[in-house]
Amino acid sequence: MAIQEHVPTQLESLAAQPIGSGDELAGRFPLTVNPNPASQAEYDAVMNDLTFGCQFTDHMAHMRWIKGEGWTDRGVIPYGPLDLTPGAAVLHYSQSVFEGIKAYRHDDGSIWTFRPTFNAARINHSARRLALPEMDREDFVASLVDYVRADSKWVPEGDGTSLYLRPFMFASEAFVGVHAAQVVDYYVIGSPSGPYFKSGLTGVPIWVVKGYHRAGPGGTGAAKAGGNYAASLMPQEVAAEKGFSQVCFLDTYEEKYLEELGGMNMFVVMADGTIRTPELSGVILEGGTRSAICRMLREQGTEVREEKIALDELVAGIRSGAVSEIFACGTAAVITPITRLANDDFDVELPVGEKTKAIHAELTGIQMGHHPDPYNWLYRLA
Ligand code: COI
Repeated sequence: MAIQEHVPTQLESLAAQPIGSGDELAGRFPLTVNPNPASQAEYDAVMNDLTFGCQFTDHMAHMRWIKGEGWTDRGVIPYGPLDLTPGAAVLHYSQSVFEGIKAYRHDDGSIWTFRPTFNAARINHSARRLALPEMDREDFVASLVDYVRADSKWVPEGDGTSLYLRPFMFASEAFVGVHAAQVVDYYVIGSPSGPYFKSGLTGVPIWVVKGYHRAGPGGTGAAKAGGNYAASLMPQEVAAEKGFSQVCFLDTYEEKYLEELGGMNMFVVMADGTIRTPELSGVILEGGTRSAICRMLREQGTEVREEKIALDELVAGIRSGAVSEIFACGTAAVITPITRLANDDFDVELPVGEKTKAIHAELTGIQMGHHPDPYNWLYRLA
């Protein structure tokens, strides 16, 4: 089948613009060495029992923006509690955005990340929506390079592991009136991690939420804003009590079409080989993993349809066999099969399908340096 026409999104176009190498960008965030790093025993305890997102490394990257001055004070500094006034606007109005990206250790010891220019474009897109300042894309990538070079020993070895990088930016100005902050802090922290879902490739059960929504038209759904995730937590707690790992949100007006899960996008594999994913409606987040999967599949000749996916049609398709697999995807989740989909009106099960496993193998193969990278997605950090 011919390669399908795909008009790159704005984020994809920005991500494709060339950027300096890690060696060229290194040094923008000078290192202040942590005088009290983790002890060998603390380090071993973290690295020998990798979880997700709850242990952090010895350093963090930081810079501060002040209105009228721009970004200042770039540095990699000791990891530790922030000196934040209780009047900081973020604590009151949630003016914050973040990114998720990973550092992977290849077999030869080198350390790589995946499409950092996509995340650089997206943090600026999110920042614009939250009235936060944009940053130079090279500063964004340099913050990853300098931070990872300082804490390279924390990048674990082995398939399914990574140093999960969390760049984030928030309104730190002491002001409880409501306005766009005039002082903003940006940090990168990192967490040595194993799989996001303990069940890994065995699959997760998902509860389809009715009555609660993650975001609406004109809102912040397409930005990676902390508040979007806060809004997903209450329904997620209710679903967790019923034994479900995540929730799937539906559109706000009709509660008819799939949008995204609490923190990841989703794909549907049809028995005829076509693959579908909810369209970028301005309400869901444009995931880097979503974008990479669409491109890989299209270049292999698979038909990928970004469109509205009606829940009732999906459930009927699962029952009839027209839908063969569903999976979630994101930087943290990578590719996670969805093996059960339920709410008060239905409860259907799906297998861990071959297509899901193949996409997982191909994507992680590129990320870990085991497969060729024809798209030039890998970027050497160290
Ligand atoms: C990521 O996939 O990196 C995210 O930011 C989502 C979050 C649920 C961990």
